[in-house]
Amino acid sequence: MYRGRAAELLGGIEPGTRVRVHKGGRTYEGILMPRSELGDDRHVVVKLDSGYNVGIEVSGARVEVVEGAERRVAQPPPPPPAAGGRVVSVLGTGGTIASRVDYATGAVHPAYTAEELLGAYPELAELAELRARVVFSILSENMRPEHWRRLAEEVARELNSGAEGVVVTHGTDTMSFTASALAFMLRGLGKPVVLVGAQRSSDRPSSDAYLNLRSAIRVALSDLGEVVVVMHASMSDEVCAVHRATKVRKMHSTRRDAFRSINSPPLGYVGEEVVLGEERRRRSEGEVVADTRLEERVVLFKAYPGVSPELLEWCVDRYRGVVIEGTGMGHVPESLHPGIERALEEGIPVVMTTTTLNGRVDMKVYSSGRKLLSMGVIPGEDMLPEVAYVKLMHVLGVAEDMDEVRRLMLTSLAGEITPRTLPEVF
Ligand code: SIN
Repeated sequence: MYRGRAAELLGGIEPGTRVRVHKGGRTYEGILMPRSELGDDRHVVVKLDSGYNVGIEVSGARVEVVEGAERRVAQPPPPPPAAGGRVVSVLGTGGTIASRVDYATGAVHPAYTAEELLGAYPELAELAELRARVVFSILSENMRPEHWRRLAEEVARELNSGAEGVVVTHGTDTMSFTASALAFMLRGLGKPVVLVGAQRSSDRPSSDAYLNLRSAIRVALSDLGEVVVVMHASMSDEVCAVHRATKVRKMHSTRRDAFRSINSPPLGYVGEEVVLGEERRRRSEGEVVADTRLEERVVLFKAYPGVSPELLEWCVDRYRGVVIEGTGMGHVPESLHPGIERALEEGIPVVMTTTTLNGRVDMKVYSSGRKLLSMGVIPGEDMLPEVAYVKLMHVLGVAEDMDEVRRLMLTSLAGEITPRTLPEVF
C-alpha cells in the first residue's frame, strides 16, 4: 500500500478509484493501482485506459478524483509497456534480491517472483519491455550444476527468441560460480547476460536492489556480448560496476560494494549511462547454444599447513578432476605430493590456483613448484579457484582426451585468463 510521500499526495484516495494525475504539463487518467509493499514511497501507479501502468514520481504532481466514474477493483498489473520495442528477459532464481524479512524470526527468505520484483519498481518499464519469470527460487548456496544447466538453457531460449539481453536475479553468495558456468556453457553468445543480486532484501529501505536492477537492465540493452555481474561499485547508491563473469568475486559478506573484479579491471560502470571499456566483447548476432555437458566429479581442494594427505587420497578415489587452491605462487605441502602423483598417473587432471586470488601462479620459481610441474600439474595462471573448478567441469565434459583437457585449461575460453597481470589492478 501507499506510504510516505505517495500517501501524502493521495490524501486517502483508495486504489481502484479513477484519478487524473497532473504532472509537468501532462495529465495521466486511469485507475489508481495498489502499490506493492516492496515499492518506494515516491511513485503512484496508474493503469491507463490503454491497459498500461505508469509510475508517476510524486514531486510536483497533483491528483484529482474523476467524479462520477465507477469505482473499479484494481487488477494485478498487466505486462509492462514496451519501451521502444526492446525486450529484456528477467529470469528469477531467488536470493536476497527476491527475499523478504520475516519480522517474527528476523530471517530472510526468498519470497518474491521476478514479476513482483519488477512490479515494485514500475519505472523500470520505461527502460525496456521487461519479460519476467521465475526459473527457480532458492538461496544460492543450494545451487548445483543441474541449476546452471537449466539456467543456461533458459537464457539461450530467451536470447534466441528475440530478447536484446537477459538479466538473471540471483543470490550473491555463489553468483560468481553461476556466472562462470554460464560463460563457459553459452556458445556463440553475442548479447549481454547480466547477473544481479542484492545485499539487503528488497523490502528494506536500505536495499541496494533498485539501483542494481536498473543498472542490470541498462547493461542488458548495451553493446556487450558476454556474461557479466552488475552490482554496486561503492557504498553509496550511485554507480554500479560491470564485472566480467570469470573475473569477479564476492569479497565482503555484507557491504553493498562486495563484488570486485580480480586480476583485471571492471569492464565498465553504469549510472545514468553505461560506460564500457575496450576490453569487452561486443554485441553480435547469431544463435546461442547452451552446451550443458559438465563432469560433476570435480573437487576444489584447499592446501594449508596441516592438511590431511588422506583427504586428498580420498578425493582421488572419487573424483575425475582436482583443482587445488595452493599457497603463494602455487605450492602445496610435500605430504600431498603422493596423492597428486597418483591422481595424474590415473588420468585425473590436477590444476593449481592460489589462495592469494590476486596475482598468478608461477610454479617455476621454487623447486617445489617445479616438481609439481614435472609431475604434470596444470598451472591455472591467474584464474580464480572457483572459476578453474567450474571450467574443469566444463572441459572434462567436452574434451576428448587428456591432451585436450590440458590445452583447454591453458587457453582463455571466456576471458578467465589474462595474458599479463597488470600491477595497477591490485
Ligand atoms: C544467497 O546467496 O542466496 C543469499 C545471500 C544473497 O543473496 O546476498
